[in-house]
Amino acid sequence: MGRNPVYTHVYNQLRYKILSGELPIGSLLPPERKLAVQLGVSRNTIVRAFSELEAEGLIAGKMGSGRYVEALPPTPSLTRVDWRSQSTRSLLHPSPSHMEEILSITDKYPHTINFAHGDGGKYTLVQSRLTEYVEAAAKRSSSYFFTSVQGLPELRERLVEWMGIPQISSPDQICVTSGSQEGLYLIATLLARQGDCIVTEMPTYFGSLQLFQSLGMQIIPVPLDQDGMRVDLLEGILARSRPRFIYTVPTFHNPTGRTLTLARRRQLLAISEKYGIPIVEDDAYRHLHLEHEPPPSLKQLDQWGNVIYLNTFSKMLFPGLRIGWIAGSSPIIQYITRLRELTISTSTLSQFALAKYMRDGALRPHLDTVTRLYAEQARLMESQLRPLRSMGLDYEVPAGGFYFWISLPEGMKARQLMERCMEAGVSFTCGDMFLLREAEQPYIRLCFTHEGAERTLHGMSILTRVLYQQKEDSR
Ligand SMILES: Cc1ncc(COP(=O)(O)O)c(C=O)c1O
Repeated sequence: MGRNPVYTHVYNQLRYKILSGELPIGSLLPPERKLAVQLGVSRNTIVRAFSELEAEGLIAGKMGSGRYVEALPPTPSLTRVDWRSQSTRSLLHPSPSHMEEILSITDKYPHTINFAHGDGGKYTLVQSRLTEYVEAAAKRSSSYFFTSVQGLPELRERLVEWMGIPQISSPDQICVTSGSQEGLYLIATLLARQGDCIVTEMPTYFGSLQLFQSLGMQIIPVPLDQDGMRVDLLEGILARSRPRFIYTVPTFHNPTGRTLTLARRRQLLAISEKYGIPIVEDDAYRHLHLEHEPPPSLKQLDQWGNVIYLNTFSKMLFPGLRIGWIAGSSPIIQYITRLRELTISTSTLSQFALAKYMRDGALRPHLDTVTRLYAEQARLMESQLRPLRSMGLDYEVPAGGFYFWISLPEGMKARQLMERCMEAGVSFTCGDMFLLREAEQPYIRLCFTHEGAERTLHGMSILTRVLYQQKEDSR
């Protein structure tokens, strides 16, 4: 019977019989005691199921003569769906709508200099030559039809090659997703339920926070230091609670840019094995190193099959493609595919274009080009940030990924700064999106890969001006 209380099964059975007409309007329901015996449940269970049906107006008691199936209430003359009460039936819990806030910036402020979005920008689109592949895919008739729910087989083969690790040796161990956000949604819904605990770094990628909060999960935060997640604190946490999984962005973490050291990776895997807790590794920035290659992924070090690996083409190529993938042991991939079947969502056309792009070996040179470019852009942005240290602003220089995570001068309000900057023509992401508590906090995140050199310089000059103004006003 799963985790639903017994009365909901009785309630659902009766409700179905009433709504399907099997129990017609006016029919008499058996007395509580008799029905309890018939169904082999307690009388209290029946009382609870009856009271739910009564509250819905499906049945009503008549003095001294039992309960009868009621006629449905007359339809009001002006029918209007009450969306508010309809939506409360779903699992969604209130959480800040950060994803929409950030993604709609360019619709609301089309000319803004955009340090908010985490992507490679229009210039890198031209560099990538991806549009040629999309055009070629658009000429193939098979692009317009369904492909396997698990993902285009050829693309899955390319992904196995791309990963190049013994842990992922077959296309059966891959499921293509509509971006890694969908991948994370599938994994989270599969592994945990409302009320369950999960562990994540804090701060962390806002899309994961919004997802876990909306699904009603209890988030246990673990801080980071220069070497990534404070794995030493995890054992203490596990002594007190049993999270369903550990979500981590160990490589060029969003938003801090930090990378978990090899030693800590090993420790984290050992903890996962000791307590039997799966690790969800989100590796969105792995291939975007500005200097050296990062340490091996957790999946590559995983000897027991405890790691579920997520990656995406949104950062290597472009988010509008909406292609990501999950890699893991075959049984979990099968479950994920079953769940995914309920939405059949990834575009076949994008998958064909990408499979050919990879087959032609175009991805590696593209990454070499853009990472060189991104390194220049990071240096440029840093040259504009450096003088601001004297006013109390602080940051680390990232070794990969897309972002500067910046702490503002003492007392400066990040949201207020953001609003003023938006008015002045430059946007960025406010640090509160990456944290659990919404209280005033001193961080902002600047993406250095979306804008080219000229607009970066212009945006930074606006940001500098607004920063000085705000500092002046707060005296
Ligand atoms: C760590 C991380 N995971 C997942 C995503 C979502 O990517 P996708 O576009 O593939 O859904 C992002 C996007 O910013 C991210 O930073």
